Amino acid sequence: MTSENHAFIAARQARHADLLVLGGMVITPNGAERIDVACADGRIVALGDLRGSWSTKTTIEASGLHVLPGVIDSQVHFREPGLMHKEDLESGTRGAVLGGVTGVFEMPNTQPLTLCEADLQAKLDAAHGRSWCDYAFYIGGSAVNAERLGALENLLGCAGIKVFMGSSFGDLLADEEDVLRRILRHGRRRMAVHAEDEARLRERKKLVEVSGDVREHHHWRDVESALLATQRIVCLAAEAGRRLHVLHVSTAEEMGFLAQHKHRVTVETTPHHLSMHAPDCYERLGSLAQMNPPLREKHHQDALWHAIRDGVVDVIGSDHAPHTLEEKAKPYPQSPSGMTGVQTLVPLMLDHVNAGRLSLQRLVDLTSTGPARIFGIEGKGRIVPGFDADLTLVDMAAQRTISNDWIASRSGWTPYDGVRITGWPIHTVIRGQVVVRDEQLQGVPQGQAIRFLETSADIASAKQGALP
Ligand code: DOR
Repeated sequence: MTSENHAFIAARQARHADLLVLGGMVITPNGAERIDVACADGRIVALGDLRGSWSTKTTIEASGLHVLPGVIDSQVHFREPGLMHKEDLESGTRGAVLGGVTGVFEMPNTQPLTLCEADLQAKLDAAHGRSWCDYAFYIGGSAVNAERLGALENLLGCAGIKVFMGSSFGDLLADEEDVLRRILRHGRRRMAVHAEDEARLRERKKLVEVSGDVREHHHWRDVESALLATQRIVCLAAEAGRRLHVLHVSTAEEMGFLAQHKHRVTVETTPHHLSMHAPDCYERLGSLAQMNPPLREKHHQDALWHAIRDGVVDVIGSDHAPHTLEEKAKPYPQSPSGMTGVQTLVPLMLDHVNAGRLSLQRLVDLTSTGPARIFGIEGKGRIVPGFDADLTLVDMAAQRTISNDWIASRSGWTPYDGVRITGWPIHTVIRGQVVVRDEQLQGVPQGQAIRFLETSADIASAKQGALP
């Protein structure tokens, strides 16, 4: 018996928990159930009617709340190292947990880029003792490391490989067909891609250089730019027999195409694309609404919602990509693309649930179970005994107004400043630790590296000298 199993069985036998969550409406694989959750040694150890029959160190009274499996945001840019005036791992993850997020996958377009083992190790070292939630880091795929990606993707704490086919923010780019082929051939985990066609973006940039008008952002980076790149990478991935994850899909046309490739390709969209649309967003927010791929017209947004209902979308990631207000105030198109999002993901999506656009069960599939399933996360994404005790407790009836003051990001702003929301995260629990209680941060950062099913066995064996 492993030591972790020993702790699990001992807690069950003694009926003693570190944390009891009592009386909440718990979203389990069976649906919504009014049950209690016992957590011990970082894991869920029992579900059911536990009040009175279990002892505990800590309790959360959850009646009136819904208890969701911890939300995993599989696309954030936390800017450390190199760009910490925009964000760092402490502030980024603080925003995450205040917003009900228990785990994040962080992107490689930092300075330096995350391209090798030392770059990854530097991020893991920086996160240790400073990250409020659990974390994994993407390694960027490019011409310089293509042949090493098969080994790199298996490192502890690596979320997988991320490729930028179109340049966005930072120097990471892989747009040539032979480079993409080399990248796809080396490695076997699901590869994440930012799909915009670089050649077309370059050719069309003069459009906005002449006008200087942010309302043209989605005309410069048009539907065709996104569709071309998505079609190309899906075909190349099929040729290589590689699983693919297309990030922040923004067009009706891509969703139509991706619906035909669901056996190998998974799909993300973002709360931004689901909540804002052109031209209104550019009129209201100017370059604060500038992101890549762009926010588009309403009929694209409608298609994203259809794709959620049809099961084409697997996950919702925030694409949290902070820049300072000063940077965003530069004249367009020198203004950088991206906006904060990790802290507002859960509130916005709960508001959409309350508006009847999706069910809470479907949201859990998109933000907890979905990421765990498609990336093979070990022990997260569901509320079942044996899984990590990661819980996002929300009040579906709570009304709040999102404000810049509430945003933990170093950049200090959100495109939703002043937006009234129904549905709010109240407590955040990570591996049984109450990290946020009554909307207030607790204790000290104790985040850990997320483990992956495809690599953790290799890592454990390698430590014992059994594998190269
Ligand atoms: O708008 C964006 N900003 N899209 C990206 O893909 C990158 C991001 C950033 O890092 O700022």
